[in-house]
Amino acid sequence: MDAPPLPQAFLSRRFPAPTETQLKARYCLRVNTDDSILKPEAIAERAKGASVLFVTATEQVDETLIKALSPSLKAIATLSVGHDHIDLNAARAFGIRVLHTPDVLSDACAEIAMMLVLNACRRGFEADRMVRTGNWPGWAPTQLLGKGLVGANLCILGMGRIGRAIATRARAFGMQIQYHNRNRLSAQLEGDAIFHASLEGMLACADVLVIAAPGSAQAKGSINETRLSCLPKGAVVVNISRGDIVDDNALISALESGRIFAAGLDVFANEPEIDPRYRSLPNVFLTPHIGSATRETRDAMGWLLIDGLDKLSKGDLPSNLIV
Ligand code: DGY
Repeated sequence: MDAPPLPQAFLSRRFPAPTETQLKARYCLRVNTDDSILKPEAIAERAKGASVLFVTATEQVDETLIKALSPSLKAIATLSVGHDHIDLNAARAFGIRVLHTPDVLSDACAEIAMMLVLNACRRGFEADRMVRTGNWPGWAPTQLLGKGLVGANLCILGMGRIGRAIATRARAFGMQIQYHNRNRLSAQLEGDAIFHASLEGMLACADVLVIAAPGSAQAKGSINETRLSCLPKGAVVVNISRGDIVDDNALISALESGRIFAAGLDVFANEPEIDPRYRSLPNVFLTPHIGSATRETRDAMGWLLIDGLDKLSKGDLPSNLIV
C-alpha cells in the first residue's frame, strides 16, 4: 500500500538547516526561499492549501490571512516566544492551533539583556567607536566614565521566564533585583527580588530598567513620557521585548537631554525601519533583534515546534500550545 501523502506546509522564512531538514521529512514543504519578509496577502497566495503555516515575529498573521487559509489550515507554528503578530482570537474562531517557543530561548535572551545593560551602563558604543576610528588619545582619568552595576537597582518589567533568567545573571553582577509583574511570584521564584504592585512605584527606584514583558496591543506605547519621567535622573533603559512598548519620541528626547543616561535596545517599533534618530545618539547601544540568535537556541526552538506538531498530530496537547 502507498504511504499517505505528506501534509502540506508553508515556511515563510528560512529556518536553520537542521530544522528545515526535519520539516522536509514530515511535510510537503513550500519554502519562501529568498527569506524575504512577506506581507499577509503574499502568504495567503503562496500558502494556499497548507495545513501548517510556519512563521516568525516578522510575519503578521491577521484575521484576513487566517480566513484565506481556512479551512485547510490546522496549525500556525511561530519560531518565537512572542505571539503579538498573530491574531489569536481569529485562530481560535477558525479552530486553528497556534504553537510558539517558550523556555528554550530564555537564557539566550537574558545574555543579550546583560550585554545591553553592560554596554549602556559602560558606554560600549562610544568606547568601541573611539578605538575603531583612531580617536583614542590614550588612557585618561576622566575618559568615558559610566555607571557601575554593583549595588544598582535593576528593575525588571515582566518577571516571566526571561525576566527571571536576567535576574539570575544580574545578581552575579551585584545588582539588587526589583520587579513589576501582573502577579507576584511565589517566594521560591522571587528569591530576594522586591515586588512592586505599581509600575510607577518600581520605575521610581530604577537605576536600570529592563523591559522583558511580552508585547501586546495593551502594552503598546506604555513606556511613555509620563512613565519615563518616573525614572530617577541618570537611569538606563534596556528593551529586549518589543519595540512598540516604548514611545520613541519620549525615550529619544530623554536621551538627548541626558535625563536618561543611556539605552540598550534590541527591539524597535517598525523593524527594520527604526526611528533614524537612534542611529546618531552616542548614548544608545543598538542590536538588531538578536535575543534568541544562538545556534543552539534556534535549533531548540525548531525542535520545540516539530515535537509540538508531532504531538498534535497524535491527538496530544503539547506544552507550547497557545491556542
Ligand atoms: C521572540 O521569540 O519573540 C523573539 O523576539 C524573536 O522573534
